[in-house]
Amino acid sequence: MDPVTTFLEQCRTDVDTTLAARLAVSEAGSTRLLDAMKYSVLGGGKRVRPALCLAAAVAVGQSGEAAIVPACATELIHAYSLIHDDLPAMDNDELRRGRPTTHIAFDEATAILAGDALQTLAFDWLADAPMVDDQTRLAMVRELAKGSGHLGMVGGQAIDLESVGKHLSIEHLESMHRHKTGALIVAAVRIGALTAPDLDPGQISALTDYARTLGLAFQVQDDLLDIEGDTTVIGKPQGSDQARGKPTYPSLMGVEQARQYLAGLLSNALTSLDSFGSEADTLRAMADYVVGRTY
Ligand code: IPE
Ligand code: IPE
Ligand code: MG
Ligand code: MG
Ligand code: MG
Repeated sequence: MDPVTTFLEQCRTDVDTTLAARLAVSEAGSTRLLDAMKYSVLGGGKRVRPALCLAAAVAVGQSGEAAIVPACATELIHAYSLIHDDLPAMDNDELRRGRPTTHIAFDEATAILAGDALQTLAFDWLADAPMVDDQTRLAMVRELAKGSGHLGMVGGQAIDLESVGKHLSIEHLESMHRHKTGALIVAAVRIGALTAPDLDPGQISALTDYARTLGLAFQVQDDLLDIEGDTTVIGKPQGSDQARGKPTYPSLMGVEQARQYLAGLLSNALTSLDSFGSEADTLRAMADYVVGRTY
């Protein structure tokens, strides 16, 4: 097995174990709500954001142990964003991670509430993250709030919905992708880096550049998979973007040019890490993985 596959498998195991253990002890007023939360969080997923969070911690000389709960918090936000993204009022999709979406498996109201609950739970976990001090917890909360709120993921989702059926300029499309997908990826990387008590400003700036570029690349590949992927492999309905009139990179510039653009983004993401040594090799491998993934 190549090193990034091994790393990702280990991450998936560690993240899944932590998520399952923490969700098991969460007290919910409603069993149905907790069931919907668990269904959405524990039902698969590549765990790319937690993996990037852990790899960023390693890049700044940490073991990754202190990053595991914060990494899981980024996945809670991601799971919430997917539940809401699939709702009839948004993308209206019925398949996610190879299973019925949360509003199909439960009902719309429960899906909305499960998303709401996962969002606040993420901040709860950051607020008492183990092995870091209060100052760091506060900084992590701020990063996640910025990456997921109206200036980040939610803002991007709003632009996405406003753009249906419209022809966007490349600049506008890039801004949409940077917000809806890139911002949470930036937050995941920066939160991982924050586990280092003596973080160098140059390091955080380089890691931020890396994450900004990779976050954009992540959504470009997602757009390509919507066209070229296979529903059974990607675990969500292939062709959904086209069916809903979503502006995407391939719809705007064609598949071939979108692929070339993606290759350029990969190269830029790797260049951002030039000041790092082998401690950033996992981040480098993650960049290759993100642009080369088939689901
Ligand atoms: C899908 O994210 C939604 C986007 C932001 C493009 P992922 O491709 O990371 O989905 P999972 O978590 O692996 O299911
Ligand atoms: C979703 O983008 C971005 C989110 C914030 C969830 P998409 O709508 O393209 O994600 P998929 O393709 O449904 O996973
Ligand atoms: Mg969407
Ligand atoms: Mg969608
Ligand atoms: Mg998509």
